[in-house]
Amino acid sequence: MKKSAKKIREYKNKKKITALTAYDYSSAKYFERAGTDIILVGDSLAQVIMGYDNTFQIGMDEMRVFTSAVARGVKEALVVVDMPFLSYHCNVSDAMQNAGEFLKLGANAVKIEGASDYILEVVLRLTSNGIPVIGHLGFTPQYINTLGGHFVAGKDLDKTIFILEQAKKLQEAGAFAIVLEMVPAESARYITENLDIPTIGIGAGPYCDGQILVGEDILGRYEDFCPKFARQYANLKEDIYKAALAYCKDVESGAFPGKEESFCLSEEERTRLEDYKKH
Ligand code: KIV
Repeated sequence: MKKSAKKIREYKNKKKITALTAYDYSSAKYFERAGTDIILVGDSLAQVIMGYDNTFQIGMDEMRVFTSAVARGVKEALVVVDMPFLSYHCNVSDAMQNAGEFLKLGANAVKIEGASDYILEVVLRLTSNGIPVIGHLGFTPQYINTLGGHFVAGKDLDKTIFILEQAKKLQEAGAFAIVLEMVPAESARYITENLDIPTIGIGAGPYCDGQILVGEDILGRYEDFCPKFARQYANLKEDIYKAALAYCKDVESGAFPGKEESFCLSEEERTRLEDYKKH
């Protein structure tokens, strides 16, 4: 059965929420098969798939393509899409239009970074018009130029309380969950315990209501950067390298393709061809 945003919200205090980012049909399918509750088409695809330095370098065009690929691979998990940089910042109507487009492509919810008064207005407009929203607080990659780098957020009491206040405002505006990125475990625990909606941590310790990681990180496929908080469960970059190396060797030596990988003429046609070659 399809997991709804409402269902995910109800998991709080009942079941740990599992979430992974995916950007293509097959990964989404396998992640869902493993029981992942939420598949996020994260704008981290800017780095891990497209090779850019930052998430704000991609826009609606790229996110549309990856969203529809993921949505085709998923039946039961909740498909959430990151609203890319500039797709919700200019005005609330554009935000509604762009978020609505993702739903038409098969997504079930969107994720939005920050909690300024303007962002809260966007969240309210979307949620009151049928578009479920996940908030994103703590370290927010789309703000990297104003933040000045990758920093742990909520490192003291005042900052922890500030994040909690932001989270409460998002909750009030209708968000059904909050991603907490790079927040000390104790701060994330306090925030989690003081919200009615679930927190989904990434680098935010074990006390959140759920966890999310970048799919490419657990698979060990992306080698440019691996954050401290990620755990690698496979080493696909090594497997990919070894497979390509073996293939090149087989092609060069003539070991590939073999008979089983080739299409052959019938006995009769082979004889005819041989006879013809003799003329
Ligand atoms: O884009 C992404 O991968 C994300 C995660 C950090 C949650 O937003």
